[in-house]
Amino acid sequence: MNLNVSMERVAPLRISIFYKTIFFFVTPIMKSPKNIKCLLQKGEQKLQKISKEARIESELLLCHTIKKPKEYLFQNLEKKISKNTENKFKHLVKKRLTRFPLAYILGKKEFFGLGFKINQNVLIPRPETEELVEYFLKSKIAKKKNLKIADIGTGCGCIAITIAKKLPTAKIYATDISQSALKVAHANARRHHVSKRINPAPFCRKAAKRCGIKFLKGNLLSCLSEKVDVIIANLPYISDKDYQKYFKNLKFEPRKALFGGRNGSFYIKKLLRAAPKYLKPNGEIFLETSPEQSLELILEAKKNLPKMKAELKKDLSGKIRILHLKQK
Ligand SMILES: C[S@@+](CC[C@H](N)C(=O)[O-])C[C@H]1O[C@@H](n2cnc3c(N)ncnc32)[C@H](O)[C@@H]1O
Repeated sequence: MNLNVSMERVAPLRISIFYKTIFFFVTPIMKSPKNIKCLLQKGEQKLQKISKEARIESELLLCHTIKKPKEYLFQNLEKKISKNTENKFKHLVKKRLTRFPLAYILGKKEFFGLGFKINQNVLIPRPETEELVEYFLKSKIAKKKNLKIADIGTGCGCIAITIAKKLPTAKIYATDISQSALKVAHANARRHHVSKRINPAPFCRKAAKRCGIKFLKGNLLSCLSEKVDVIIANLPYISDKDYQKYFKNLKFEPRKALFGGRNGSFYIKKLLRAAPKYLKPNGEIFLETSPEQSLELILEAKKNLPKMKAELKKDLSGKIRILHLKQK
């Protein structure tokens, strides 16, 4: 066998592999963004695949990574950042590209101008729910002093806490079937200094002693110990069909916060059936609902609360979103 010949053939091959390997490792380093401006552009470019607000998302993810406010980015566009930070940012962009919600990555969401801590145990508060709160706050009954209000299915506490901030004389019950959701609501109440006006949950007695926060854990209205003037709720109302349809966008949020039974109205109907026992004679109900369920819910309300008048309100996109039951 002519060994020399075969070595001659192998040597260029080895050299070629050697250079390819160097090229493989060095190229990304050469290409990697070196300053904030470059990283923001890279992030935006990638996020365009899944978001119409790619630039804003890129900025928020970078702020989150470097733990600095937005102004810092704009004042330091040319600032070089470490490889470690760059990798962290890239990891978050990658996570977001799976459609994992931005609010969960950031661990917070703004609602009615207030910041709320959130995690995957709670629904991400929606603008439609801000409209429900606004509608309630503008109602006649909200002008009364010392109201007793129950927010059923409080999640991160956004409805109860916003109302507590706006109506300082109100006594508010915030309830949920999920203990882990109540823990988030509890932390938010403490953060916004309204915890003392919310009632107790057995599971967080220690915490309650420490900071005076009290919540109710239970199924719909059953945990209320007294009648209230107002029931307000954004209960799960997504139907089976819609859950399948929007699964791609909803799959990271807790199913029990979204899914309202086969046609979506299971929990709201159940609440309407129980309401007469828990509502004061002149009490009112404010519910977030889906447009497809509104008529069915009015019929259920008429059956159980025949003295009440039903009003429907559309959201900003023109869809029926609020069912308001008040005295005739
Ligand atoms: C659509 S989320 C609303 C959360 C929050 N109020 C908001 O508007 O962002 C519904 C909430 O109701 C709670 N929930 C579901 N079934 C319940 C039940 N049977 N009784 C009380 N709460 C329930 C869920 O755990 C979830 O936190």
